[in-house]
Parts: sequence; C-alpha cells; structure tokens
Amino acid sequence: MIKNPFAKSEPEIKRRKNPKGEYSHLDTKELLFAVKESAHSTHRANLDILLDIFLERYDARQQELDNLNRELEERIEIEVNIGKANHKRYEQQAKMAAIGEMIDAVAHQWKQPLNALSMMSEMLDSDFEDGLVDKAYVDELTKNTQVQIEHMVTTLNEFRNFFRPKNNKKSFGIKRCVQSVMLLVNDEFMKNNISINIQSEKEILIHGIENEFKHLVLNIINNAKDAFNERDIGERNIFINFYQEENFIHVDIEDDAGGIPLHVINDIFKPEVTTKEVGKGTGIGLYMSMQIAQKLGGTLSVKNTDNGALFKLKIPL
Ligand SMILES: Nc1ncnc2c1ncn2[C@@H]1O[C@H](COP(=O)(O)OP(=O)(O)O)[C@@H](O)[C@H]1O
Ligand SMILES: [Mg+2]
Repeated sequence: MIKNPFAKSEPEIKRRKNPKGEYSHLDTKELLFAVKESAHSTHRANLDILLDIFLERYDARQQELDNLNRELEERIEIEVNIGKANHKRYEQQAKMAAIGEMIDAVAHQWKQPLNALSMMSEMLDSDFEDGLVDKAYVDELTKNTQVQIEHMVTTLNEFRNFFRPKNNKKSFGIKRCVQSVMLLVNDEFMKNNISINIQSEKEILIHGIENEFKHLVLNIINNAKDAFNERDIGERNIFINFYQEENFIHVDIEDDAGGIPLHVINDIFKPEVTTKEVGKGTGIGLYMSMQIAQKLGGTLSVKNTDNGALFKLKIPL
C-alpha cells in the first residue's frame, strides 16, 4: 500500500492515545516552554492538552490551599480558645491572689484593735477588783471600745466593697480611690515601715470601674512592699502622683526598693512571670493591672529609676 504523504506522523497518533503522558512529568517552567514551542508548531492542538494540564495543576494547588486554609482556621480557633481559657484562668488566679492579699491586709488591720479590746477587757476585770470602776471609767471604756470596733468595721466594709462585683463604669476620684486602698493596707504597711505619700493635692476624676482601679493600685504597692522586704531596705517610700498633661491623665507610682530585676523587666506584664518563690508569687498581678489599664483605654509601663521602680499609668482624656 502506498503511504499517504499527508497522513499524520506516528508521534502525533501516540499523543492522541495518551495525550497528556508526554507532558505530565514536566515542571511548570518546562511546560511553559512546551506551550511556546507548540504555539509555533503546526500541532496547535497540543495547546489544549497543555492548558488542561495547567488547569489540573491549578485545581490541585487550589485544593491544597483550601485545605491549608481550613487547617489554619481550625488551628487559629483552637489557639484562640486556649487563649480565652488561659485568660479566664489568669483572671481567676488574680482574683484568688487579690483575695489572699486582702485577707492578709484585713487580718493585719484587725490584729491591733483585737489586741486593744482584749487588753481592755483584762484590765476591766482587775480594775473592778481594785474598785476603780465607776461611771466615768465605764464611759471611757465604752468610748475606747467603740473606736476599736469602728476601725474594724471600716476595714470590713472596705473589704466587702472591694470584692462586690460592681462592674458598672462611672466617674471616680483617683485620690479618693488611692486613699481607700491605703486605708486597707495602712497597718500592714506601717508594720513594714513603708510610708505611702500621695503627692497630688487636687482630685482628678477618671471614668471606669472603680474597684478595678483599686486593684491596680493595690497590685503595684504590694509588689513594692515585697521588693522592700526581699531586699531589706531601710528607708521605705512609695510616692503616688497624678496629674493631667497633654490630653492624658497620668498616675505615677514610684518606690525606692531597688528596681525591677533586669532579666524580667521586659516581661513583667506577661502572665505567670514572677521572681518570687512558689506560694509567694503568682506573676498575675501586673498582667491583670495591664488588662485594667487597657480597659480604662490607657497603658501601663514601667522603668527603673536610680533608686527603684516607677510605674506609669497613662489614660487619654
Ligand atoms: N516595685 C517592684 N520592685 C521590684 N520588682 C518588682 C516590682 N514590681 C514588680 N516587680 C517584679 O515583677 C514581677 C511580677 O510581678 P507580679 O505580676 O505582681 O507578680 P508577683 O508579684 O506574683 O511576682 C515580680 O515577681 C517582681 O520580680
Ligand atoms: Mg504581685
């Protein structure tokens, strides 16, 4: 049989049988080269095959990407949930730690009036036997016991207010708040020879949750107390200063307790960062304080001064 000279050549037939086979092992660069070649050759039909391969590969990539995205979304959700759970846990720990610190404060505040009351009742007994108890004596005794009891009641009320979950925002005075915290820790700080000095005369109002602000102040001054005691420092002062400057309200709390250890200073606002021994420190106090500062729309920062640490709360007006 005479061969038809116009018949298609053998390789072309092979390609039809397994049209993609010839190209499927090529990488993208080689495929593009094949496209170019094919565009210039007479077998333009190959362009369709090549396009098919491209599309197939594109689909496969797309599928991979979709899978990856889905996986990422799942992973992000898991991480966010872990974050939320941790946040809840830290919040809970902070509350427990704060309650512990407050109960300590209350116990110290009560120790002295309880001692006084116990002494008075002992004296009453012996004074009666000595015939010293008359109307004037009883009046004096009543007055003195009232003073002591009032001191205890004030502490208790302050303590109850502190933990009653009043979450409503309102305007409150910084000075009044600081004074109310001082009332709670007064005896404990006096016992530790620490004097807290409020340097600002003028009251300044801010808007937020009052108890949270008190917590922030308590956390910071309690840390200063710990630092003083750890380092056995003689002269012990905490200075609290608040003022308005350039559309910000500033609250500065400074101590002369030697400063934040340099190896933790960049991390102290993170949860569970503490230099204190187990059972003493939770590393939650400053983390919570930062959350509170942020809820007030502000920031909390710290730096070491020549003698100690200076915490700066800055709230936009
Ligand atoms: N006034 C301060 N002086 C020195 N170090 C401080 C002071 N305040 C905080 N720190 C350091 O920051 C750490 C973290 O404080 P905090 O978050 O309150 O946790 P905790 O008091 O439970 O350790 C403390 O362990 C301490 O090392
Ligand atoms: Mg603390």
